Amino acid sequence: MKRLPISLQSLIIQGVALCLASILNYSAPIYFSQQPAWWQLALVQGGIAALLSYLHQQPTWWPPLHFIFLPAILLAQQASVPTWFYLAAFLTLVLFYWSTFRTRVPLYLSDSKAWQAVAPLLPQTQSFRFIDVGSGLGDVPFYLEPRFPEGHFYGTEIAPAPWLISRIRAWSRRSQVTFMRRDYTAIDLAGFDVVFAFLSPAVMPALWEQARVQMQKGSLFISLSFGVQSQQPDHEISLAEGARHTLYAWRM
Ligand SMILES: C[S@@+](CC[C@H](N)C(=O)[O-])C[C@H]1O[C@@H](n2cnc3c(N)ncnc32)[C@H](O)[C@@H]1O
Repeated sequence: MKRLPISLQSLIIQGVALCLASILNYSAPIYFSQQPAWWQLALVQGGIAALLSYLHQQPTWWPPLHFIFLPAILLAQQASVPTWFYLAAFLTLVLFYWSTFRTRVPLYLSDSKAWQAVAPLLPQTQSFRFIDVGSGLGDVPFYLEPRFPEGHFYGTEIAPAPWLISRIRAWSRRSQVTFMRRDYTAIDLAGFDVVFAFLSPAVMPALWEQARVQMQKGSLFISLSFGVQSQQPDHEISLAEGARHTLYAWRM
């Protein structure tokens, strides 16, 4: 059965946990002052939400997030955080995570082990065009650019804040990398010899189809961490002993 997007799952988990914690609170009333009773409710709700998240096999960082969610709100209320702070925090999150709800690909960053593993797969002498689809802060093309003078590097990013940060970084280091603020699904991948993606399992079937239809024969499609069920890769590189990340590459 198709799973709901993680944000919706989490909303439901928080709601169910709040109902269960309220029932518990009501059926086993706590004879303290109002303050600790609220705290008790928040902590019990957090514990139930974390347990539900674990049982629902959400990624490992979700149970702790569920646990602290309500206590954090309570803490902020008690610390009299000014209301503009919530608006600012919300806007910051929107600018970084933009349409994650739709794309199902949040911002998280690859590291130097991955960039180092990509380098030997690229053409060593001839000119080529490389694009990172969902380029985040621009780290992948920034690492490769000085190592491949024959390469032309591009990144495309849908969220405004990471895109702006990568543009500022390019400007400050006098980089020639071109960062576009575009949805990669609207880009014709035929114009690139190497396409790199670090996205999420949810989008891999559609991205593979896009690459299969658009990319030229002989070009290279690279995916960090997420494979394609319907197609065995030509290269499969583990990034370190026991590492969670694997680099997959397909010659089109
Ligand atoms: C997991 S991050 C990877 C960032 C970067 N490539 C790296 O390796 O550090 C994925 C990025 O893809 C962006 N993204 C998701 N869907 C996208 C889309 N349809 N078009 C462009 N960017 C997208 C997200 O905003 C996020 O910044």
